[in-house]
Parts: sequence; structure tokens; C-alpha cells
Amino acid sequence: MNSFFYRNLKRDYPVISEGRGCWLTDKQGRQYLDGCSGAVVSNLGHAVDEVKQAVVQQMDKVAFAHTSQFVSDVALELAASLTEIAPPNFKHGGRVYFVSGGSEAVETALKMARGFFFEQRETKRTITISRWNSYHGSTRGALSATGHPARRTPYLPLLSEEPHISPVYQYRCRCGATGVCQSSECTLRLADELESAILEAGPENVMAFIAEPVVGAALGAVAPGPEYWPRIREICTKYGVLLIADEVMTGLGRAGANFGCDLWNVQPDIIALGKGLSAGYMPLGAVMASAKIVSGFQNGSGVFEHGFTYSGHPVACAAGLAVMQYMQKHQLVQNVANRESAFFKRLEQLRQFEIVGDVRGRGFLGAVELVQDRATKRPFAPKLRIGQKIAMQAQIDGLLIYPGSGSVDGLNGDHFIVAPPFNISDKELDELLVRLTKSLATVQESVLAASAS
Ligand SMILES: Cc1ncc(COP(=O)(O)O)c(C=O)c1O
Repeated sequence: MNSFFYRNLKRDYPVISEGRGCWLTDKQGRQYLDGCSGAVVSNLGHAVDEVKQAVVQQMDKVAFAHTSQFVSDVALELAASLTEIAPPNFKHGGRVYFVSGGSEAVETALKMARGFFFEQRETKRTITISRWNSYHGSTRGALSATGHPARRTPYLPLLSEEPHISPVYQYRCRCGATGVCQSSECTLRLADELESAILEAGPENVMAFIAEPVVGAALGAVAPGPEYWPRIREICTKYGVLLIADEVMTGLGRAGANFGCDLWNVQPDIIALGKGLSAGYMPLGAVMASAKIVSGFQNGSGVFEHGFTYSGHPVACAAGLAVMQYMQKHQLVQNVANRESAFFKRLEQLRQFEIVGDVRGRGFLGAVELVQDRATKRPFAPKLRIGQKIAMQAQIDGLLIYPGSGSVDGLNGDHFIVAPPFNISDKELDELLVRLTKSLATVQESVLAASAS
């Protein structure tokens, strides 16, 4: 009897048996090239010995100590390493609160924002503004901020109803641009939606704005134009609203910089991290609090009324520290930045397929949007589940990619993410393209044949 609660109980999943570098092997001996680092997690690939050693060494010393009683050397060192590479307002006086994953990080960031205002006696500030076409996590607070209807719908009665503004989505800009909208006017108009939302809610009631610097799962690697984030920062500062950057996917190199917001030199007040922080070696997330947030607590009660049993887990922090040291030793963030154009040059070749509408992204976070009709950008019928179909075909062809849907209106619109480990070789990138081309050809052929019949 199988007692494992799968993500989809109507599907079978292969049993994983081994991971080495950019390759995963299942129990049947089938090999998969990890073209999406799991879910944009395994930034170093699999089985890096230095990380394994660090985990074992920490286990030998002490596996667990509760943060109400102790802190560990590895947690202190990891926090220091993170603030060292963070935007300037985190460097002197910023601090890091460790958790066990991205949703916990977002949940904690939201409560930290509230805690900050509570300490300032600005107790009316409770509203968080976020964006449609976003994903911030599965817990109730994070899901309330999330702007992805398919993920929200079953739980709507459990969620708090808070304002969502439009994302930047140049391929489907409201101005009706035929290609990909490049207009800075459109970018600024979208940023200014934040100001309108703040004014509508009453600035004294608004606590935070949360967004992904480059939208990941919910939209497929969409980076805004250069004017967007600086304008967002300006608006938040004007109204005293905290800016939370959800860098769970973009943080620590994925977008070609240490933090996604570094791409625009923007300094958020709070940063949420997960995924690449421990690159999948241990469950780990973090919330980085800028100096302003920390002093807000220090000058008040000093207490952030919050906590998880596994906050600051020494073994998870040891893994995170070893991941950071490995990335720095091998200059992997720089490596992503240097190879970004070579990566996208390969992805661009997928435009040979009629069903490919757009290819986009930053760093090693790439995505392909799929369309029924390229000229009109008409999406596929959702019931076709075209993204899923391609991902499943790719898995058969020995390649892992990360599908998503709902980009157009929450229901329609399909894409898949390609986000390999940072240390993938050029030869493996070529192989990724060969396999992806094969899978796309197979699915396109079957889709076109079905629509002709
Ligand atoms: C931007 C973003 N925030 C939050 C999360 C939630 O992270 P986790 O799945 O680790 O809880 C994700 C996960 O995909 C994410 O991409």
C-alpha cells in the first residue's frame, strides 16, 4: 500500500535514487538533466561534497539547539555573510532571521513588518499591497499576498482580502503593443498603480508592498523595465510603506546578481529568501531585516513576537553557509551573469516553434510562453494543459523543466521555466536544448494534428 500523499493523487511519480551534478537518476535507472534545478532550488547541482561535509560536521557537533536558548556559530556566520553581500541599508545594522523555507520567510516578513509598526505605535498599518500574477507561498498570509487565482481559489474564504495591483507583463501590455512592450511610460503607469492603491486604502493603513523583483512561477521570468523598481521605492518611501522584496526565487544569484533588486540598485526594507539559500541541501529560508527595521525593534520592546521551533536550525545553517562559500569560491553569481547571454541565445532558438510566443528572463531564470496563435498571442485552452504536457514529455525525454499557467487572466496562459544549476557546463546546456527541442517538436506536432482533425 502506498501511503504517500502525492501532489497529484491521480499521477504516478518516479522514485528518485541519486543526484550528481546536473543529473538526477530514478530507481528505474532513468537519467534526467535537471533543467530547472527542481523548482529553481538546486543552484549548485547535486551532491556537492563541501556541503555534505559541512552538514556532517555540524551534525557531529550539535544538530539542534532552540533559538530561545542558544545561537550557533554557523547561524552567526551565515547571517554575517548575507548582510555583507546585501544592499547598503542592510550592511551596517541589518540582521537575518532564519526559517525553514520560502513560505515561512514571506509569512515572517509580513509579521515583521507588522511588528515594526506595532513597535512604532503606528498600529493602524495592517494592509499589505501585492500584485496579480505573483506567487509568495502556500501559508495563509503568503497566499493572501499571492496573486495567482488558481492557487488561491480553493482557499479564498480563508484568505484576507487585500489590494493587488497589476504586474509588469510586457508581452501582454495593456497598451496593445504587438511585440514586447518597451515603453517606459507603461512601466511607470504600472508602478504608479501602487500610489493609487495606497491612496485608496489610506496611507496610514498601509503596512507593506511585497513583490518579486523578477516574477517567477506565476508569470514566467518577467523582469520589469528599468524605471519600475526605483519608482516603487520612491512611492513606498513617500508614504512610509515598507518595501518587501520576495527574493525566494531570485535571491543569491539566480537573476545574475546577488539579489534581484541589485539589478536596479534598489534597497528594500525587508528581503525574503529561500530556495537557493541552501540550494536544496537542507530546508532553509531567511528574512533579512534592514538596519531601519532592526532599530525599530531595538528602540522598542526589542522583541519580535514570532518564532518557529526550527528557526536558525544549526544543520540547515551549516548547509547554507557551505553553499555560500562554494558559490563565492567558484564565483558562481558572476558565472551566471557572464553566461546569461549564451544561455538565452540557446533558449531563443525555441522560437522556431509556432507555439512559442515569447522567450524571456534574467540570469539563469528563463521562461518560454506558449501560444495557440503567435500573431494574436491567443493562449491555448486551459484544459489542454500545454505547459504540463511539455514538462511531462520532457521528463520522458530525460529533461526536467518547470511548467506554470494562468499568466493571461489567472486561468489562461501557459509557460515553462528553464533554470539550470549555475555550474551547468556548456555541453550540458547544449544537451538541454537538444532535449527541449525534441520535446517541443513532439508536443507541437500532436497539438497541431489534434487541432487539424
Ligand atoms: C517568489 C516565491 N516566494 C515564495 C515561495 C514559497 O517558497 P516555499 O515553496 O519554499 O515555501 C516561492 C516558491 O516557489 C517563490 O517562488
